[in-house]
Amino acid sequence: MTNKISRRNWLKTSALAGSAMAFSSIDLSAKPITKTASSKKLVRLTSNENPYGFSPKAKQAIIDSVELGNQYAHREKVMELEKMIADREGVKPENVILGSGSGEVLCMTGAAYGWQQGEMITPDLTFPMIYRYAENFNAKINGVPLDNKLRLDLNEMGKRVSNKTSLVYVCNPNNPTGTYLPTKPVRDFCETISKRTTVFVDEAYLEFTDDFPRNSMVELIKQDKNVIVSRTFSKIYGMAGMRVGYGLAKKEIADKLKKFRMTWFNSLGINAAIESYKDTDFIKMSVKKNNKVRAMFSNELKKINMPHPKSEGNYLWVNGGKRIHNLFEKVKPYGLSVRNGRGKYEDWARITIGTEGHMKTLVKALKKL
Ligand SMILES: Cc1ncc(COP(=O)(O)O)c(C=O)c1O
Repeated sequence: MTNKISRRNWLKTSALAGSAMAFSSIDLSAKPITKTASSKKLVRLTSNENPYGFSPKAKQAIIDSVELGNQYAHREKVMELEKMIADREGVKPENVILGSGSGEVLCMTGAAYGWQQGEMITPDLTFPMIYRYAENFNAKINGVPLDNKLRLDLNEMGKRVSNKTSLVYVCNPNNPTGTYLPTKPVRDFCETISKRTTVFVDEAYLEFTDDFPRNSMVELIKQDKNVIVSRTFSKIYGMAGMRVGYGLAKKEIADKLKKFRMTWFNSLGINAAIESYKDTDFIKMSVKKNNKVRAMFSNELKKINMPHPKSEGNYLWVNGGKRIHNLFEKVKPYGLSVRNGRGKYEDWARITIGTEGHMKTLVKALKKL
C-alpha cells in the first residue's frame, strides 16, 4: 500500500485540472445552523447511506413482523428472499449467499480465501473490509495503486496474478473514489483472470449506474466462471441498519463461502428486504435524485476549486487541500457530519450525496473555508 496521491500530482493528471481554478462568487450570507449541534442530530454524510430512507412497503413489513422479534428468522422467509434474488438474476437459489450485509459476504470470502497465507490482490485505495478480514487469517495483501485518474488499474492487477494468488478484489464503482470502469474491460479482465484464480466483484454501488443490470458480472457466474459478485440492501435500498446483503457465485464457491457464515439472519431485515426488492419505484426514485444532486454538488465543487474524480456512486472523493483538513469539526456547526481522509489522504474527504438541501448547506459551509 504505497501509492501517494498528492493534490498537485493529481491535479496535473486529472481531466478536471482545467476547471479546477475556476472562480465562484462566495456566498457570505451562509450562516452556521447552530454552533452546538450535537453529533446525534448531525445529518450523516459519512457512510453512503440513502438519505431518502427506505421503501414504505419495507417499513410496513417491519411493523407487521415486529411481534415475531422473539423468534429466529423463519427459514421459509430466508428461502423466499433467496429465490426472489435468484429469479431476477437468472441463477438458482443455491447460487445466492445471503449475509448480514454484503460485509458478511466480504468477511466470509476473506476468511475462505485468506487463510493458509493466500495472496489477495486488491486496489490499494478501495473498500478495505475483505482484505482487512483476510489479514486476520494471515493472508498476504498485494495492494495495487490506482491509475492517474484514480480508477482501478486492471492491467497492473492482472500482471501481479501468480500461482500464489488466491483472490483478486475488484470494487466497481470503487469506494472511496467513486470511479467506475465500463462493462467490457471488467468482463474481459474477469474472464481472463478467473481462469487462474477467483475474482470477487463488489457491486455495492452498481445500481446507481445507468447501465445496471447489464453491467453486472453475474453473467459470468452463469457460465460457471470463478467469479463472485456481491450486492447489498444497504445503499440503493436504504436498509443499512437492517443488515442484509448477498453474494452470487457458482455452487461450488457458494458452498465454500457458506461454511464461513457467522450467524443466522435478522428476521425483520429479511422481511423488509423481501418487500424492498419488489419496490422498484423506490429504487428508480433514489437513483434519479442521487444522480441529479450529485451533478449539482459536483458543479459547485468545481466552482470552489475542489476537484474530484467523476463518481458513479452516491458519494464524491473530494480533494480540498488544507481547507478540508479536519472537515468534520468545520462543518459540524452547520448540522452536518462528514468523514475526512486520514494520513496520506488528509487532503481528501469522501462525501456522501445527501438530499439537495443537505448538499446546498454543505456547499455554503465549504465556501466559507
Ligand atoms: C464497496 C462496499 N462494499 C460493501 C460494503 C458493505 O456494506 P453492507 O455490509 O452494509 O452491505 C460497503 C459499505 O459501505 C461498501 O462501500
